[in-house]
Amino acid sequence: MSATIYIKSPHEIELMRQAAKIAAGARSMGRQAVRDGLTTHQIDRAVHEYIVKSGATPSCLGYEGFPAATCVSVNEEVIHGIPSRKRTVHNGDIVSIDLCATYKGFVGDCAGTYACGEVSAEAQKLIAVTRQAFFEALQFARPGYRIYDIGVAVQNYVESNGFSVVRDFVGHGIGRGMHEAPEVPNYRPERGSMRGGNPRLVKGMTICIEPMVCAGDWHVEILKDDWTVVSVDRSLAAHYENTVLITDGEPEILTMADDLWA
Ligand code: MF3
Ligand code: CO
Repeated sequence: MSATIYIKSPHEIELMRQAAKIAAGARSMGRQAVRDGLTTHQIDRAVHEYIVKSGATPSCLGYEGFPAATCVSVNEEVIHGIPSRKRTVHNGDIVSIDLCATYKGFVGDCAGTYACGEVSAEAQKLIAVTRQAFFEALQFARPGYRIYDIGVAVQNYVESNGFSVVRDFVGHGIGRGMHEAPEVPNYRPERGSMRGGNPRLVKGMTICIEPMVCAGDWHVEILKDDWTVVSVDRSLAAHYENTVLITDGEPEILTMADDLWA
């Protein structure tokens, strides 16, 4: 990844809005497909069809060889779960959906974890804390702060609720590329450990803030399929992500559906 942070022009921002709106709609479709008895493949189909019908392309499909439009990660799976016809979702499961849509050359990226039917109190709390961690961090997504302020806000909120933040994967800038500089960690990094360091936030930056949270320990490993990231202790995990525009004032959540549901 280049270390250059691309500041978007007003025209580019308008295109980002359009791409992100499609991604947000696709997430809603995926959320509605989290139902007892459906497979993770069927969830992916709902997302994929929505993206294509919107005139966009599913950016994850073929990305570094990823075989689907959607990452669908169940329970202890944190991110990058591969949709499968053999994996059925059941009541009591929590399902993380992560997708990107490319439209007119720009990418929108969002994720969320959703309950299938009734889930445990711990699972409900994990979903709520992970989502709220994004909004806690959002308060720092404005000029006057730096990238690490976002990560510190996520970490403080998550750990004060008894959960842990994943270290091995981070958020990112976004634009023409799905992953642009800067890296956006969900924790306070060791000095010098992030490529591109700790830049100031400036108007026109577009970044993905994406807390990845484990109910237990934060260490993760990758399964033999070379993609699926799971917690080492197999504790439940959740993910929440939006594409955010830095402005002069309030940050703009570009991947939020009109009903603010996701
Ligand atoms: N949407 C993910 C992100 O937040 C990327 C998924 S990896 C892919 O960066 F291979 F599925 F594309
Ligand atoms: Co992302």
